[in-house]
Amino acid sequence: MRTPIVIGNWKLNGSKAMAEALVAGILAERPGLSDIEMGVCPPFVFISQVVAQAAQAGMGVGGQSCAEHVTGAYTGEVSAEMLRDVGCRYVLVGHSERRTLFGETNAVVARKTRVVLDAGLIPVLCVGETLEERQAGNMNAVVGGQIEAVVDAVGIQAFDRTIVAYEPVWAIGTGQTASPEQAQAMHASIRAQLAAHSPAIAQAVRIQYGGSIKPDNAAILFAQPDIDGGLIGGASLNAEDFLVICRAAAGSLRLS
Ligand code: 13P
Repeated sequence: MRTPIVIGNWKLNGSKAMAEALVAGILAERPGLSDIEMGVCPPFVFISQVVAQAAQAGMGVGGQSCAEHVTGAYTGEVSAEMLRDVGCRYVLVGHSERRTLFGETNAVVARKTRVVLDAGLIPVLCVGETLEERQAGNMNAVVGGQIEAVVDAVGIQAFDRTIVAYEPVWAIGTGQTASPEQAQAMHASIRAQLAAHSPAIAQAVRIQYGGSIKPDNAAILFAQPDIDGGLIGGASLNAEDFLVICRAAAGSLRLS
């Protein structure tokens, strides 16, 4: 049995006051959602405040990215070790916005996964294809290549503490969602790929879906056998919407 995990990725949104109100709203319902794992990834500058508010209440906090370096002359960067120091549990690596807007290659993503693991944190490895890649029928090869680059770098054993997030690029922030069948097919393909390295790790690894998850589509996505929760963008900025999605993840446990 894999514990569903729902993480909010706030992206470049928020303020001190907004973060405090949003987290308070989420935590008010946390006791009723103890069957699932929950987390939020605020912008770096709000992480300490959110950790102070959320850690004791059983909600994890993560960074949205980190440096591929451990320390040194890299102006503007934040290391995985710093994120651990301020109380993070997760770091997103390879989010498609990092890949497309900031030029992160599979090799960079693999190095970031390594430093996150070395810092004792949990990488949330984001993978996904563009619309062109899907239309050309290349989605499995693209996502497979993104996964394999990281397996090559960190070894399959590291996936016992890694979360995978499948986020089709064409579904992020567009209001367009992968159908439950499309999402399930890709999740099964990712799990099969990991199973070729280690059946036990593949069975245990959690694979989140991300890309326009909303209160009205979360339950059907989470009901798929290989979907173990979600990575939520826009809908994670509203406490009630995020909570409806978390309740859907908790509800999926009762179906399984
Ligand atoms: P949206 O939920 O806004 O589509 O964003 C998904 C995402 O990128 C989460 O990391």
